[in-house]
Amino acid sequence: MGGDYILLEQHQQLGDTTLFPGGSCGSSGAGGQVSRATRRRLSSFQQLLLILVAGSCTIALYAYWDVMLLTSGNVPETQLSNETLAEKLQREVRVLCWVLTTPKYHKSRAVHVMRTWGKRCNKIYFMTSEPDDELPTIVLTKPDKYEVLWGKTKEAFSYLYEHMLDEADWFMKADDDTYVFVENLRYMLYPYSPDQAIYFGYNFKMVGTHQKNESYMSGGSGYVLSREALRVFVEGLNDTTKCRQEDDHAEDMEMGRCLFNLDVKAGDSRDSKLRHRFYPLLPFNILLSGYFGLDFWLYKYAFYSMRSCMDCLSEYPVAFHYVSPAQLYVFDFFNYDFQLMGKQKPVERLPEKIKPEDLVIPEYDNHFD
Ligand SMILES: *[C@@H]1O[C@H](CO)[C@@H](O)[C@H](O)[C@H]1NC(C)=O
Ligand SMILES: *[C@@H]1O[C@H](CO)[C@@H](O)[C@H](O)[C@H]1NC(C)=O
Ligand SMILES: *[C@@H]1O[C@H](CO)[C@@H](O)[C@H](O)[C@H]1NC(C)=O
Repeated sequence: MGGDYILLEQHQQLGDTTLFPGGSCGSSGAGGQVSRATRRRLSSFQQLLLILVAGSCTIALYAYWDVMLLTSGNVPETQLSNETLAEKLQREVRVLCWVLTTPKYHKSRAVHVMRTWGKRCNKIYFMTSEPDDELPTIVLTKPDKYEVLWGKTKEAFSYLYEHMLDEADWFMKADDDTYVFVENLRYMLYPYSPDQAIYFGYNFKMVGTHQKNESYMSGGSGYVLSREALRVFVEGLNDTTKCRQEDDHAEDMEMGRCLFNLDVKAGDSRDSKLRHRFYPLLPFNILLSGYFGLDFWLYKYAFYSMRSCMDCLSEYPVAFHYVSPAQLYVFDFFNYDFQLMGKQKPVERLPEKIKPEDLVIPEYDNHFD
């Protein structure tokens, strides 16, 4: 009991000395010099005063915050001159990410995606079959089976089309073992119009009977659809002559075939020096020339001819696959916290915008069969 009393007493003293006299919002209030008796007598008056002061502070802060919010939406370009290029891109190239996962991997994979690269997307949703307190989930109706990945992908994109088409310019699909450098993704997309039906990823040659220019994007390192591509895809996917109606088969290949038949362009995600930005394996696989033999399957199925070498990876890479949860954090550390003593930051510029009618996509050039 005694202890409780002392606590109350201390609390009241704190109130007297710190809440009343100080602060930019504070009034003169009652000082700390009044005797204990006076203090007790004035306590209801003090309470009233405290409520008044706190109330006006809250109103003033809210008004300030509101004005900041209202103005931040359309500040003229010149006033944002301190804004970093990454911040400008975040405003202008809005990316909604969605990650295909299952309840089995919520805690072991999905939450780690959320805590690392996932939080940098303008919006992120985990497409799964059960909700989770720690994740922004969208619950799909298709069963949790690898065999229906194509069906889940159709359902996921249809949901985004129906409910979130205006929330982003680009819609990036990733797996729960993909790592995405979201800033570099926006940088890659910046020249393109989201009103053009186009998508990007790591381009594979279509296998089986197909036209020479037919490709699909590896599901593992993910792919990103423009808003227009999303619209064309969802409005066209019931066409039995263009898209597979069943839910089975390889998701990425069916996606590629469907988009090709719907005339959605398969973009070239390489940089201006033709180095890869999407890569369906881990970074060391593309950097080390001696790691794979020349007959490695990836070299054979690449739409754009490729090899591994220290100069084969863009210095602005976008996505990798087979990244373990532990590696997600390592990637994050070496890219967002790491400093190299004395290293100068390069001067960076955004590329010119490409008019949709001027877009030229390089032809298939991998004749290695
Ligand atoms: C930009 O930076 C200058 C100098 O650091 C600062 O005085 C100014 O308030 C900043 N402007 C904005 C819009 O952040
Ligand atoms: C693929 O090639 C065919 C035949 O040359 C052409 O008609 C078609 O427009 C091309 N499609 C794409 C997406 O480049
Ligand atoms: C495609 O078919 C599904 C299932 O029958 C239906 O819910 C959806 O509205 C259809 N989409 C379009 C664009 O017609």
